[in-house]
Amino acid sequence: MADVKKIAVLPGDGIGPEVIAEAEKVLKKTEELFGYRFETERGLFGGIAIDQRGTPLPDDTLAICKKADAVLLGAVGGPKWDNNPKELRPETGLLGIRKALGLFSNIRPAVIFDCLKDASTLKPEVLDGTDLIVVRELTGGIYFGEKFRRETANGQEAVDTCVYNVKEVERIVRQGFEIARTRRKKLASVDKANVLETSRLWRETVNRIAPDYPDVELEHVLVDNCAMQLLRRPASFDVIVTENMFGDILSDEAAMLTGSIGMLSSASLGEGSFGLYEPVHGSAPDIAGTGAANPIATILSVALMFRLTFGYHEAADVIDNAVKAVLDAGHRTGDIAVDKSQAIGTTAMGDLIVGAMKK
Ligand code: IPM
Ligand code: MN
Repeated sequence: MADVKKIAVLPGDGIGPEVIAEAEKVLKKTEELFGYRFETERGLFGGIAIDQRGTPLPDDTLAICKKADAVLLGAVGGPKWDNNPKELRPETGLLGIRKALGLFSNIRPAVIFDCLKDASTLKPEVLDGTDLIVVRELTGGIYFGEKFRRETANGQEAVDTCVYNVKEVERIVRQGFEIARTRRKKLASVDKANVLETSRLWRETVNRIAPDYPDVELEHVLVDNCAMQLLRRPASFDVIVTENMFGDILSDEAAMLTGSIGMLSSASLGEGSFGLYEPVHGSAPDIAGTGAANPIATILSVALMFRLTFGYHEAADVIDNAVKAVLDAGHRTGDIAVDKSQAIGTTAMGDLIVGAMKK
């Protein structure tokens, strides 16, 4: 009998619970097909935790995550909490969980699904062959630097500080190189070394460790130029490694290249195999509760969990292939349907994918 893998499940807000329910069906089907065993434990996280517990990241939720092998997260946030003070915002819970679990690396693949090329705003010939991964530093930089306000003669002043040390840069850059090694062996390191001191340290560090990866072709790209090149030559990128805020911005841009943010999965990793997996899309409060959400990003996040945390590669292939088969057969949720009147709902899509899962 396979050992039991513990998965902390944090459905969160908006469409989170709906897409998580479909991912759980996929877990169950994997148990049947492969004899694996998953033990899931749910935790309150995000807006729902603010409402029920007065904090976006309750201690018992963190404890559930810490004793798990992996975390599966739906989505957090919504207009209800948008005007709350900082401690009572879902985003604060997200930053807190990343820091508390030591998840310094965020991996967001942006892959063009051939049958969905029309969904992108870019021309198909520009997109052809696009298959890139943004590796974003997740627990440092301006997100976590000292922040404060002070009074000045010109009125209130706000300060955010951006800090990186060599260790933080080195571990994420090495991960970028390692991932590039498993793919097309190209790494673009993105910084703003013409202006920022943190970026100059970043670039020095990249250049110092690059000789350890002679098989990987390295390019340094300034972040503004990268934003442009992503639109001009997306297919030429393989792995992009960058600091926290640049990665936040570029990964949204990269996701939109595919035109189908409802399809993209992500992983947040620390040292070792532990990881937190979530769809790239948000809680979509506008369609929450309508049963219209696309569950594919969350289902593909399960496949990513199988690959990166559990090493269940065959089961991951089964999921990826099932998604592809269902799309190839023409089934679409509203976000990716050309003819919206033909769109199917969340549970129908989940059921079709589970039905297509074959060894
Ligand atoms: C993301 C989100 C978060 C971030 C927000 C919600 C705090 O945009 O995961 O990319 O900026 O990291
Ligand atoms: Mn973001």
